[in-house]
Amino acid sequence: MPASGALLSIPRLVDAASPAEAAPTGSAQAGKAAAPAAGGGSGSGTFPDFAKDFLTSDMNGLGSDGKPTGQTMTFTGASQAGVTAETASKEMTLTQEEQDILDGKEGEEKAKLMKILVAFGNTFGAEKLVDLGGAPHSNLFVGAPYMGSMIDMLNECADAGLKSYATYTVNPRPYDVYNVQNNPKDMEQIYLGYPLQAKLDYVHSKLGAPDLNLRSCACYLDEIGNAPAPGTYVAWCESSAVNYGNSVLGIRTNRNGAGMDLICAMLGKAPLFGLMTDEGRQAKWLIDVKTTEVPDWGTLGTAIGRKCVEDVPYVAGIDKYFEGGVVTPDNLHKLKAMGSATASSGAVGLYHVEGVTPEPKEKGRDLLVEGYQTYVFDDAEQQAIIDTFENLWPDKDADPTAAFIGCPHNTYHELMKWGKLVTDALDKAGQEKTAIPVYMFCANPVRNRLIEEEGELASKMKRSGMHATNMCGVVYAGMKGFSDRVRGVTNSAKTRSYSTIRYFPDQILVNAIVTGKIKA
Ligand code: F3S
Repeated sequence: MPASGALLSIPRLVDAASPAEAAPTGSAQAGKAAAPAAGGGSGSGTFPDFAKDFLTSDMNGLGSDGKPTGQTMTFTGASQAGVTAETASKEMTLTQEEQDILDGKEGEEKAKLMKILVAFGNTFGAEKLVDLGGAPHSNLFVGAPYMGSMIDMLNECADAGLKSYATYTVNPRPYDVYNVQNNPKDMEQIYLGYPLQAKLDYVHSKLGAPDLNLRSCACYLDEIGNAPAPGTYVAWCESSAVNYGNSVLGIRTNRNGAGMDLICAMLGKAPLFGLMTDEGRQAKWLIDVKTTEVPDWGTLGTAIGRKCVEDVPYVAGIDKYFEGGVVTPDNLHKLKAMGSATASSGAVGLYHVEGVTPEPKEKGRDLLVEGYQTYVFDDAEQQAIIDTFENLWPDKDADPTAAFIGCPHNTYHELMKWGKLVTDALDKAGQEKTAIPVYMFCANPVRNRLIEEEGELASKMKRSGMHATNMCGVVYAGMKGFSDRVRGVTNSAKTRSYSTIRYFPDQILVNAIVTGKIKA
């Protein structure tokens, strides 16, 4: 699942290292069937052949040569080298109210949820539970059969009258039969592949999610409005939202596994550990960005994720790309692109940007731990990382067939930017239509804003072959047979990490969209 690594480790498609090569020290060893501290595996025994790709994840460290560095994710939110479930765990102290819930005084369902939460907290060495504020964000968005037991569990809770402590946001749905998959073959696959989608959507509705128009991974955008105040404890899922929230909004959440978001939401509590603590928010890496031009944000994020894995980076040298050190609706896409790449090529749940994000503004380099490591990202390093991006199309020399723009979901500013880039290029070429379909992934309110405020541009985009869609592009790319029939191109380093879609800078993409050819 693209959104949160803790439910299931993703087979690394692009940077495939053999399990043996990737084997680290510690408990979360690849290739040895040793389970990570939580969520990534199920215990002992040998893996069958068909599961071999699941033995390594893209959340292992890679050097700029594309080879494993030996550092692996520990699933603790803030890594402790060589940590194991046994050494990390502690007994939390509960308040009387929490103990009463555990003892069943508020009903059987709540007692079960509390039992899970206490076990979760104990496993990760939490001292106590804390009350949550703001609003939750959930990445439970795929109604596939393998989610059945989770959906049933949530349904039982909803039927017992439990609800989230606040109205919450949810990731985009996995398909869009209105704008993209509106053909019988795709629809058949969807209805067979996601038979539990309606049940899941209904559960969300009962637990307190708003209508489907608000589905988006970029829940923090003004148009969606889930942006809790700095310092608020929340329990979010969705790796890109978690690291944007922690870093740019200054909220405090761990990278929770899918489902834990709603367990915490129904109890209004989460265990205090990892990225929710001052200690867990200290940076172990100084990332010194020294590119001569604006860095490629997705490549920079990929490099950071591979280097830091799940450690917190402190990024210096990019404040000049944020006027006055302020993150605005017009520039936040840079951090969205960088951050989501750190969270998908690694498992970074929080990054600090010197002179830009809230905590470094207050504490500066005091956020760096003693003995921190330094990683210089210059032009040569950027190119070295780009050179590791393999062409995974079955027919490597063929032309692209579709463009995927916006993972995480596009902002209003990005919709306008791409609309102008593409329609201007079409005008220049004397063309009315793009050579390949362009999917603009965004929440419905973001699309609606474009229609309302830039109607002429929006209709020109639509007529030219640019389709606004509110689904998740990566799940679309995961459809059976997709990589055999679609040669995708994208501006998203996250999409690159999780699919066979190829990643290019904007200008090459615009050209590919207009001409149907890739020209460097
Ligand atoms: Fe959003 Fe799907 Fe990408 S949830 S971040 S569009 S993987």
